[in-house]
Amino acid sequence: MSEEINVVILAAGKGTRLGVDTPKPLLPFQNSNLISQVLREVKELGKDISVKVTVIVGHKKDEVIKNINQHRIIENIEFVYQNQQLGTGHAISEYLNQTKNKSDEVLVLCADTPLVSASSLYDLMSFKKDKNYLAAGLSFIAKDPSGYGRIKRYANAYGINIIEEKDAGEEDKKITEVNSGIYLVNTNYLKEKISSLDNKNKSGEFYLTDIIDKSKPCGFLVYKNGEKTFLGVNTMKQLEEVEQIARLDRVSHFQDNGVRFIDASSVYIDKMVEIESGVTIMPNVHLRGETKIKSNCIIDTGSIISNSLINNNVQILPYTIIDDSEINSSAVVGPFARIRPGTQIGENCKVGNFVETKKSLLKAGSKVSHLSYVGDAEIGERTNIGCGFITCNYDGKDKHKTVIGSNCFIGSDSQMIAPVNIGNNCFVASGSTINSDLNDGDFAISRTRQVTKVGLAKKFLKNK
Ligand code: UD1
Ligand code: MG
Repeated sequence: MSEEINVVILAAGKGTRLGVDTPKPLLPFQNSNLISQVLREVKELGKDISVKVTVIVGHKKDEVIKNINQHRIIENIEFVYQNQQLGTGHAISEYLNQTKNKSDEVLVLCADTPLVSASSLYDLMSFKKDKNYLAAGLSFIAKDPSGYGRIKRYANAYGINIIEEKDAGEEDKKITEVNSGIYLVNTNYLKEKISSLDNKNKSGEFYLTDIIDKSKPCGFLVYKNGEKTFLGVNTMKQLEEVEQIARLDRVSHFQDNGVRFIDASSVYIDKMVEIESGVTIMPNVHLRGETKIKSNCIIDTGSIISNSLINNNVQILPYTIIDDSEINSSAVVGPFARIRPGTQIGENCKVGNFVETKKSLLKAGSKVSHLSYVGDAEIGERTNIGCGFITCNYDGKDKHKTVIGSNCFIGSDSQMIAPVNIGNNCFVASGSTINSDLNDGDFAISRTRQVTKVGLAKKFLKNK
């Protein structure tokens, strides 16, 4: 295995068969996109060997480059332009002309194969090394080989070439061993072969697959389970298929590790999500991004959790939405709560129905049980916030902070006009609008006195 390897990702094609405007590498996958997932696996590979990554861009290149740079999954990516998309072989020719990377071997990947795993790439490296091949690739047996290049094996010493679907005759079309589009090739051999490619085929394209020469030491490793690992996305149907495969793969991984699903077929879990044992996931739950659910939590029906940490023994009640937040042990959140970015909910807290929080810290044991908005706030330990509480955090120009101490009782239908500081052990009477600070132990009431006119109601009621 070389100590350093160049990884080239083909991402310049138009994706014509998809019929959408979005460049194919940026098509959505697992709440991210296709090329990001390929890059994540390459990053995994980079843990053990030094990889230099080049992405070949062409169609809508500025959009693709901008997106890759925004995600920053791998630093220092080299971009090579293929201004006209004349085929995968032409893309590699542009790469060889423009790259500054100079390792002895090149690993070629496609942006439209998002289920590729780092372990399959290691297997390819060992295979090539063991067999001492000039070029090696990964293949698999497909139930439906249509669309893929067929691996045609001959009886001589090496004897392989690849026949693309469009060029295959009836007999060759029956071959079920297909090309994954992933190869590891000696750089010198690649240069030699690329310079002699032609486009005399049905597509009029320069095929990278033509570097596999039946008279040269080239070989393909038939990868078990390859149909799932190397499914290429050329159509919208395949885009759905890769999503489903990734989803079911995560579910069965967690089932093997003590997670209970009531209806796994309805649950969506992204690749980077982690779930510990003893967790129960109810139907129609979505877990997205870098979410972590620690042991013995219950995530109830219809909840959507993104990029958040849910600590031990938490109950997320139905239809709760949580983004970029942290919920600590034994808290109960929902039903119908909306926990917006930057919220930290402490141990044993209760956040109930129709409560929205944003950029707020609720310390241990505090409760906001009904119909409230808590934004840019800090609420102390064991403080009880009544129904219909609002932090008025925005004055039309700037956001301001509300700080409430520990052991307070904030009556229902109160508003805090921020910036405002409420000490510990304070009591705010229901229906109060608070705009000046309270010291520890203060009581505040701010509402007009009630006027009662005895028996006057009949004047205003119909039919009385
Ligand atoms: C390719 C292989 C096929 C293999 C399949 C696996 C060739 C000729 N065929 O077919 O044998 O079974 O992948 O999924 O290689 N691209 C460029 N520049 C171009 C053309 C394509 O960068 O000029 C990129 C695309 O963006 C894509 C990748 O190369 O990421 C593969 O191209 P695609 O058109 O999807 O090839 P397939 O028909 O899938
Ligand atoms: Mg493809």
